Amino acid sequence: MNTLVIGGAGYIGSHCVRQLELAGHTPVVLDNLVFGHRKAVAPHIKFYDGNLGDAALLKEIFEKEKIDLVMHFAAYAYVGESVTDPLKYYDNNFAKVVTLLQAMKDSGVSKFVFSSTCATYGVPEKLPITEDLSQSPINPYGQTKLDVETMLKDCARAHGLSFAAFRYFNAAGAAEDGTIGEAHDPETHLIPLVIDAATGRRGPITIFGTDYPTPDGTCLRDYVHVDDLSRAHIAVFEKLDTPGTALFYNLGTGTPQSVNEVISAVEEVTGLTVPKVIGERRAGDPPALYADSTKAREELGWEIKYTDIRGIVETAWKWHKNHPEGYNS
Ligand code: UFG
Repeated sequence: MNTLVIGGAGYIGSHCVRQLELAGHTPVVLDNLVFGHRKAVAPHIKFYDGNLGDAALLKEIFEKEKIDLVMHFAAYAYVGESVTDPLKYYDNNFAKVVTLLQAMKDSGVSKFVFSSTCATYGVPEKLPITEDLSQSPINPYGQTKLDVETMLKDCARAHGLSFAAFRYFNAAGAAEDGTIGEAHDPETHLIPLVIDAATGRRGPITIFGTDYPTPDGTCLRDYVHVDDLSRAHIAVFEKLDTPGTALFYNLGTGTPQSVNEVISAVEEVTGLTVPKVIGERRAGDPPALYADSTKAREELGWEIKYTDIRGIVETAWKWHKNHPEGYNS
């Protein structure tokens, strides 16, 4: 399948590009390199430096590369910033997707895979989270993702778009071969920050709250390996042949880990001590988020290779050891 991967130089997108190739597909990358890294995409892969909202460029790529399917990973994902600068998020994460879907429609490209998020559930009404729970995001980031989900459903009904929206839990880890990994600037995610605290590259990790109603008082999250996520995106291809197909899947391991447990896993894997301080709760953090991914397992045959947090941390550690400065290393 000729697949346009928008945001293919970003964290999850670049891992998906690698998995697409391993599965025998032909990825083509479109990325404006605002957050992506050119080095995250192998040199032999066709690369377009451009914007997701550039209709003329999209048309050119669809035609030249004979694109069958589009994957979209190019959303902004800083929850706090989405609260202080919502228009930036509604523009990039929603308005530009309107342009993208219009360009796909005009060029007859009718298959789409969308990166959605567990943030669309807000504070979930029950745990583990199944796809049928009500979605009430508590920040503009989650709202923009939910708005796109709604738009996709309408497009499937109106003009036969076939799509899958994957609601990710906490993407983590790095490619097994250590070639690509997580490199955000600024970095806000727990595992890379804890590794940096362990190596002394940054100061102590701040634990955001120890008074949550959880077994050890710290937040519970569902860390899922980025290659496991990527493989689900490819497993769904065969389901998208029927026009108007609309699919939603949670992607998580279903095993919650507390912040303290993640810190312990990093200590175990690295053999280093993680310096830590206890801080205030971070605004907008639900106490616990973890998935029921039975639907993805049953319908897509999705198999989770990294069921254990230590296995995930091992891959992140391999990447960070060799790339302490990310792609600038
Ligand atoms: N945490 C700390 N200290 C830190 C960083 C994080 O204690 O320095 C805690 C957080 O409070 C949270 C957990 O570690 O309980 C995980 O935090 P992350 O920032 O790594 O991940 P989130 O669960 O906040 O974010 C995830 C995805 C985001 C997505 C968000 C939507 O990783 O991309 O869900 O809710 F935007």
